[in-house]
Amino acid sequence: MKAAVLYELNAPVQVEDVDLDSPKAGEVRVKIAANGVCHSDYSVIHGVLRSPLPVVLGHEGAGVVEEVGPEVSLVKTGDHVVLSFAPYCGRCYYCSIGSPVLCTNMRMTMGKGTLLDGTCRLKKNGKDIHHMAGLSSFAEHAVVDQTACIPIPDNVPLDKACLVGCGVMTGLGAATNTAKVQPGSSAVVIGCGGVGLNTIQGCVLAGASTVIAVDLMDNKLEFAKEFGATHTINPGREELVRTVRRLTEGRGADYAFEVIGLGKTIEQAYACTRQGGMTVVVGAPSREDTVTIPASSLLTEKSIKGSLYGSTRPRVDMPRLIELYMNKRIKLDELVTRTYALGEINEAMDALEKGEVARSVVVM
Ligand SMILES: NC(=O)c1ccc[n+]([C@@H]2O[C@H](COP(=O)([O-])OP(=O)(O)OC[C@H]3O[C@@H](n4cnc5c(N)ncnc54)[C@H](O)[C@@H]3O)[C@@H](O)[C@H]2O)c1
Ligand SMILES: [Zn+2]
Ligand SMILES: [Zn+2]
Repeated sequence: MKAAVLYELNAPVQVEDVDLDSPKAGEVRVKIAANGVCHSDYSVIHGVLRSPLPVVLGHEGAGVVEEVGPEVSLVKTGDHVVLSFAPYCGRCYYCSIGSPVLCTNMRMTMGKGTLLDGTCRLKKNGKDIHHMAGLSSFAEHAVVDQTACIPIPDNVPLDKACLVGCGVMTGLGAATNTAKVQPGSSAVVIGCGGVGLNTIQGCVLAGASTVIAVDLMDNKLEFAKEFGATHTINPGREELVRTVRRLTEGRGADYAFEVIGLGKTIEQAYACTRQGGMTVVVGAPSREDTVTIPASSLLTEKSIKGSLYGSTRPRVDMPRLIELYMNKRIKLDELVTRTYALGEINEAMDALEKGEVARSVVVM
């Protein structure tokens, strides 16, 4: 089958034939229909997020289950599924307390670029190719853990449903699950890409009355308005913190979301947060990056919270997001600025880098 393989950092992705072993116990093979292009794929290519190489990229997919391995009970052949990049063991401490995104077994194997049992199904000339986030869905097929498959109704378009697999769940969940945004509150969202736009629509869905979108690119601020932002700030032209204060009765925002992945913009988000308010970090920074905040400011009861995958419990949240989409309560169609074929993946990465798209989707 064809897959998008990264062999070395900062080099083009190679779309080529690789081998895919059959699913083992608890695993299924999915025929991938579509896969969104996320900044995290771009960050792996450029070494900002670390992965063993070679690796097949892709972690925002949807498709149809075409083969189930032994001991599979959560899905069956023919099921339409959104792929979750947080498969979980169901037995560890974090799974037991209802935080499957922190699953100890998943986090151990994710860093190693394998499936949950510590081995790879992807091969080329007999040698292992690693999995990204237990999925590697920039490919015609993927073998994944059954817990990575979230069944959805057959009538949902898979080229939109795939977005729920990362950007929508991550962005929207940061507002509704991590921050639990309150009706009538104020929020700032710094970074209005595919994930940040979903944080904006999450804040709107939760009933925030002031939603301030921040981005250096004016086209992103236009998208942000379409997703419900009440105000926009381009910090290249306007002083960020002062403008946020002016829009929030001098206090700063109840919630400030950083959706870029830079220490410096996390500091800006913190500075935009009111006393007692919450700064939520959604962006994925490099391991070397750091954040400095005035220590005494914590006495004002401000908090900083990280948000991984929108703090999701995928089997609860993802079907709900799909239902909200089908009932026209959240926007997915409007996220897709462009579609590409798998062979055009490097063009898709260029468009992401240049900020030309809200999200693009590779359609198989
Ligand atoms: N926490 C998680 O579980 C999780 C999941 C998925 C993605 N992410 C991370 O979320 C971040 C955003 O992903 P995305 O796909 O939306 O990226 P994207 O490239 O689509 O969007 C990033 C946006 O930030 C803007 N930006 C860059 N620097 C800026 C600055 N200094 N000030 C204001 N705006 C600036 C860009 O113009 C762009 O619109 C990435 O770091 C990604 O790795 C995290
Ligand atoms: Zn992603
Ligand atoms: Zn677990």
